[in-house]
Amino acid sequence: MEDMARPLPDALLALPHRRDVPFSKLTTLGVGGVCRWLFEPVTEAQAQAFVRACAREGLPWRTLGGGSNLVVLGDVEAPVLRLNLSRDLAREGLEVRASASHGHISLSQAMADLGLSGMEYASGIPGTVGGALHMNAGAYGRELVDVLVRYRFLTPDGDLVEKAPEPGEFRYRWSVVGDGRVALGLTVRLAAGDPARIRALVEDYRRRRGTSQPLSKRNAGCIFKNPPGQSAGRLIDQAGLKGLRVGDAEVSPEHGNFLVNHGAATSGQFAELMALVRAKVLDRHGIALEPEVEIWDSHGRITG
Ligand code: EPU
Repeated sequence: MEDMARPLPDALLALPHRRDVPFSKLTTLGVGGVCRWLFEPVTEAQAQAFVRACAREGLPWRTLGGGSNLVVLGDVEAPVLRLNLSRDLAREGLEVRASASHGHISLSQAMADLGLSGMEYASGIPGTVGGALHMNAGAYGRELVDVLVRYRFLTPDGDLVEKAPEPGEFRYRWSVVGDGRVALGLTVRLAAGDPARIRALVEDYRRRRGTSQPLSKRNAGCIFKNPPGQSAGRLIDQAGLKGLRVGDAEVSPEHGNFLVNHGAATSGQFAELMALVRAKVLDRHGIALEPEVEIWDSHGRITG
């Protein structure tokens, strides 16, 4: 249980921050209460000061990127870190360096504009580069680690590390960065490609996504991981759950693995709908779905 009454240390309060920001403004899904303490460092040194101060005080904290893969179930009292680093890109030959605050889609777009191939898959994956590193974002059989040559992060103690990815550090929708570290940035190595072909591929991915996913409604992307060799969306669909609704939270009629917010969904309605879907898929298929989204409540992170 977090100690809510404890005042935050001066070392934290000296950093850029805002109070009581609603999660409806910080997440694409738009449910949850307020973020009591939102810290938005503009430099890596400020981010490091944040992590060091929290580590020194034994204070639990969280990191937030674009909020596009997150379901928040209430007010969050713990300090939340949302980096606001420079979004400038640095290119050297076929390698491009970006900060964690760069948009993932805009990075994909910038690579296409430069005639660099390898990040087309990311053209429809929202969120930040930091979020993509945090969980090794992917689509259409490709994922970030395929193009990653170096990544930069803070350890839980606030030490700055930059290194090449090693086996075991990145898997399907999981990375060692998400395990208590703070992504600061990355370097990707791409291939020189024909700009027209790259743009065509980007368009094709966008079109496929647009026809199969409910992108016009507030959503958090796919809610559950695909079990090995299976599609969670298909399992949910086959269990007859599309259109199942709890208040303003609904299993999308377009894609079973998208739970959408029709506007006024509460976190309670979302939690109830997720639990219902899991129970019914378990009953129908004997498969326990695991969340793909990150889930936060007021006291700690829920992982399953
Ligand atoms: N399907 C159904 N019914 C549905 C949904 C899907 O029958 O309601 C079938 C489709 O017809 C297709 C198969 O299931 O034959 C797979 O569907 P889809 O191509 O939509 O891919 P997915 O496995 O559901 C995964 C990723 C998506 C990513 C797409 C495209 C996960 C959990 N999902 O979805 O990622 O966009 O592939 O690469 O890995 C996300 O990470 O948030 C996400 C949405």
